[in-house]
Amino acid sequence: MSDRILILTGPPGAGKGTQAKRLVETYGIPQLSTGDMLRAARSSGSELGERVAGIMDRGELVSDDIVVALIEEQLSQHPAGAILDGFPRTVGQVEALEAMLGKAGRRVQGVVAIEVPDETVVERIAGRRSCPNCGAIYHLVNKPPAEADVCDVCGTSPLKQRGDDTAEAAKTRVAAYHRDTAPILTHYEPQGLVRRVDGIGTVDEVFGRLSSAIDELEKAAA
Ligand code: AP5
Repeated sequence: MSDRILILTGPPGAGKGTQAKRLVETYGIPQLSTGDMLRAARSSGSELGERVAGIMDRGELVSDDIVVALIEEQLSQHPAGAILDGFPRTVGQVEALEAMLGKAGRRVQGVVAIEVPDETVVERIAGRRSCPNCGAIYHLVNKPPAEADVCDVCGTSPLKQRGDDTAEAAKTRVAAYHRDTAPILTHYEPQGLVRRVDGIGTVDEVFGRLSSAIDELEKAAA
């Protein structure tokens, strides 16, 4: 398949970022994460970063026009496809994505939704730590680094807790997922493009389920 555009969705803390990094290695297509792009804008001190900082720290969604512009620019640079991690997140973003892909003669190959109950999501968010240098993702209990607070990949220390990983922001993010993001599946389900994957289990087990779902979507698209 020459142009593979896959949407990876699921509640905050479901494991999208963790799995997307594995999928990039296996399938050789890049991960486009709107969350990572927005965090990079904040770290760079750009005007965009300043505009979105408070919204993100409260756990609210950034406006559609901002994230659509970020994705449009990136997708045009990746003609062989991409894993869209955390985008689209509203029905408005689905409409914008379909319009931009349609103009370019491209289409979504499939949508994989990682399903995790709300109580697990809260526990995963509370224990998450990430590397401020390379972005590697850890969990204090489920996936600790070999040496406490030191990144296994690049040796950076200390690891960081995200500003939106507070109990209050996590609650807002989970609510936004159920209210605004889960409905995007309704758009793709009638086209047979949605695969739901159980996100409970080890990272390897979930990865196995994701890979099977993606292989199935690829066969269906052939
Ligand atoms: P974003 O960065 O997209 O965050 P999110 O969707 O809330 O997802 P997370 O990054 O929190 O979780 P994840 O599913 O990637 O889980 P992870 O792999 O880290 O968005 C952040 C903010 O940016 C939004 O709130 C919004 O403000 C804004 N934004 C972004 N995109 C937007 C858009 N399109 N529209 C509007 N606004 C947007 O794993 C979580 C933890 O669990 C880790 O500690 C990990 O080690 C652990 N873990 C992973 N898998 C397992 C497993 N199988 N078992 C046990 N532990 C596991």
